Amino acid sequence: MLLKEIKDIRSIIKDWKKDGLTIGYVPTMGCLHEGHKSLIEKAVSENDKVVVSVFVNPTQFGPNEDYDSYPKNIDEDLEICKKSGASIVFNPDKEEMYFNNKSTTVSVSELTNVLCGAKRPGHFDGVCLVLSKFFNIITPDKAYFGEKDFQQIAVVKRMVRDLNINIEILSCPIVREKDGLAKSSRNVYLSKEERKAALVLNRSLSLAKEELKHGERNSKIIKDIIVNELNKEPLAKIDYVEIVDSESLNDLEIVNTTALIPIAVYIGKTRLIDNFIFNI
Ligand code: PAF
Repeated sequence: MLLKEIKDIRSIIKDWKKDGLTIGYVPTMGCLHEGHKSLIEKAVSENDKVVVSVFVNPTQFGPNEDYDSYPKNIDEDLEICKKSGASIVFNPDKEEMYFNNKSTTVSVSELTNVLCGAKRPGHFDGVCLVLSKFFNIITPDKAYFGEKDFQQIAVVKRMVRDLNINIEILSCPIVREKDGLAKSSRNVYLSKEERKAALVLNRSLSLAKEELKHGERNSKIIKDIIVNELNKEPLAKIDYVEIVDSESLNDLEIVNTTALIPIAVYIGKTRLIDNFIFNI
């Protein structure tokens, strides 16, 4: 069922709660792919009812980012949600979500000034604002996020902890194309040549993973391996390559604890992210 108004979804959720049903929630910006599908299917397997929101959130885009061109495909999204077993697709308009005199911000002060937070000022404030709103509207028991945006999960978990929001935050592994490219709604921007070039993200991370498996623990050496591989691809421009503690997101000089190895790379004009977690 497709719903566009907050009052309508609230009324259905009230009935579900009266019947004692559990609610899973998958927040998305639409243009759904296998990664989203895996989140919806997990939510369906763990809850009585599942809500998927499809909303391209203006407050999480910077002035020179791709808000206006962000891909949209609501008909296909509805089909994927239906096939995956979602109960409701909530697709509000911008006006339904944001008042023209919105004056509240939601800002997590730790974990947000590194990685994508450092490169995209205000991004996580926008994510936290819209998710606070969706969490208040949908009041789910569990919410599901993809590990490709690992920092987002860390920030959302912190927000939920700090604000005592009674929702369990769960994550699903990155889903990849057969050739290794991490699934992303932004992959549709890539030309044929860029699509091929984009494989360098996973390739560079795989080289780093091998080196770590063989016992290398010096972050600089690992980072250099990634950077060198990325620099071999003429269409790639590095935004960041980091090795951080997977919980605090602080830099690790030596990989002596569970590490997150995240990268952000422009392929042409398209900014792609990828990562892996290394458990020692
Ligand atoms: O990961 C995304 O697609 C977005 O950041 C989210 C969580 C739907 C909030 O707009």
